[in-house]
Amino acid sequence: MLKDNRICRFDREGAEPHSAGQAGEYWNPMPPGGAPYPHRMRQEIYEQPDTILQTLGEWIDDLDSLIGAIGDAGTGTRLRRIHIVGCGTSYHAGLIGRYIIEKFVHIPVSVDMASEFRQMEPVLTRGTLLIAISQSGETVDTLTAQRQAKAQGTPVVAICNAVGSSSSREADAVLYTRAGEELGVTSTKTFTAQIAAICLLGIALGAHRRKICDVELETLKSFLAGLPSLTRRVLGKDHEIGEIAQTLTGAHGILYLGEGISYPVALEGALKMKEIAYIHAVGCPAGEIKYGPLALVEPGSPVVALAPISSMSGKILSTVADVKARGAHVIALTDAPAALRDIADVVVTLPPTHPAFLPFVSAIPLQLLAYHVAVLKGHNVDRPRNLIKSITGE
Ligand code: G6P
Repeated sequence: MLKDNRICRFDREGAEPHSAGQAGEYWNPMPPGGAPYPHRMRQEIYEQPDTILQTLGEWIDDLDSLIGAIGDAGTGTRLRRIHIVGCGTSYHAGLIGRYIIEKFVHIPVSVDMASEFRQMEPVLTRGTLLIAISQSGETVDTLTAQRQAKAQGTPVVAICNAVGSSSSREADAVLYTRAGEELGVTSTKTFTAQIAAICLLGIALGAHRRKICDVELETLKSFLAGLPSLTRRVLGKDHEIGEIAQTLTGAHGILYLGEGISYPVALEGALKMKEIAYIHAVGCPAGEIKYGPLALVEPGSPVVALAPISSMSGKILSTVADVKARGAHVIALTDAPAALRDIADVVVTLPPTHPAFLPFVSAIPLQLLAYHVAVLKGHNVDRPRNLIKSITGE
């Protein structure tokens, strides 16, 4: 019976379209009538405060119901470990999910590219939950990984944007992102919606397992509730980022540095730059650069450094100094500009937030950076070469 009422249980009563029969449909948070954006990608970047709000709005005041639904999937209190799979941007959301879930739930989390998960013989022990993340819910590698896990008796929760997609239908439970239809080939608003969904799940599980006390829970919920206005402030950096983009149109390679939860954001920033600006870009943990990637740095090499104050005790400052000493052109994104002003060439000041929610602040500027570089280079940002929105075949 769980199967039959599953999607209803995960959706709010009366919120349309939320029924299982509407394959491929989306809930569009934007008012009708079109928008004055030159590209869908730009519109979708700008929709993020709304799409985050809509994704959180499902559950933020009712985390117990979220847990109830996970419990029905057979994982509630018996949950011992989580395995996350996804492809492309959804994989990067999964990597961020690892930091969030381990921080709040205190259980081990592994993350695999779904295409690689398929090639392994993954050991999915009792008490493991598989989370399959996919915007479309139709990506062949993610679906196959999800089916492999099901075949081993592992319960699956899908984090998905397309209502009634294969992934959502086949999962034991679905946590929908409410990002609306994403027409740009490269994912933007669905990325932050996926992270919002994972934050909800991590915080709900953490509170349920008493790893988060009531006071911390209220603090986290108020940070979550503030994400729409926070991301709106970040969008205010658009013009500044557009100017930085002008310095990157001739770049042959860009190194993105991050650490901790900012590392997957660096990976995602690099992916955006590859996908639409066709510039080779590499995301690297700050502490790893001396083990190889430092050889790439020469005078003038562009380096984008994610340097939030919460990671200042880590490697990022010394790594920025290292690449700078080798002549790199460093663009730093930080909520602590004073610490970077003397060592970076360009400093973009971002608003502060809770350390767990940094990806919302840092991902959007990197989406805008890739967007501006690609537009300046005359590329079709909505339909990048060689790529399609959803890879459904082998
Ligand atoms: C394609 C898209 C990417 C997306 C990936 C996974 O490669 O171009 O933007 O991240 O598929 O798609 P999914 O629908 O599974 O999230």
